[in-house]
Amino acid sequence: MSDTYTITPEIEAFIEECKGKEFSKSYLIAVLHKIQAKYGFLPNNLMEEVAIRMEIPTSKVYGVATFYHMFTLVPEGKHIVNICLGTACYVKGAEQVLNSLKNSLKIDLNQTTEDGLFTLKATRCIGTCGLAPVVMVDEKVYSNVTPDDVPVIIAKYKNK
Ligand code: FES
Repeated sequence: MSDTYTITPEIEAFIEECKGKEFSKSYLIAVLHKIQAKYGFLPNNLMEEVAIRMEIPTSKVYGVATFYHMFTLVPEGKHIVNICLGTACYVKGAEQVLNSLKNSLKIDLNQTTEDGLFTLKATRCIGTCGLAPVVMVDEKVYSNVTPDDVPVIIAKYKNK
C-alpha cells in the first residue's frame, strides 16, 4: 500500500535544490509541505525517503512531522466532520452531540472511520453562535443539531 506514494519529479527537484544548501529545518518543513499538499498526509515510506535523500536521520524527519500541528501522519477521511466545542455550543448541548457523533461513526475525536469516509474533529467557535450547537461537514454548516439529528446527517454522506 505504501508504495502507492512516491516522490514526484517536482518534489525530487525541490529536494535536490535544498540539498545543495546547508541543512536547515525550514527546508525540511518545505519538503514535507509539498508532500502533504500532494497526498493530504505524510506517508511513512516518503518520510524515510526524504531522510535518505536529504541525508539526515529519519528521527529528525519524524520529529518535525510530529511536532507541527499542520502535518498529519494518517490520511484524513473523505469528509471532515467538525463539531464546535466553543462556549455557546457547549452550553447548548455540544457534548451530547459529540457523543452521538462518536457512537454513529464508532470513532473518537481525531480519528478516521475504517472505510475512510469520515474524520471527526473538534473546533472552537466558528462565529455562528446564534445557531448553536453547530456541526460542520466539509463546508456545510448544520445548526441547532441534536443528538438525534446526527445519524440523519451522517447518512447523507454515506450515500453520496
Ligand atoms: S461557540 Fe459554536 S459557533 Fe460560536
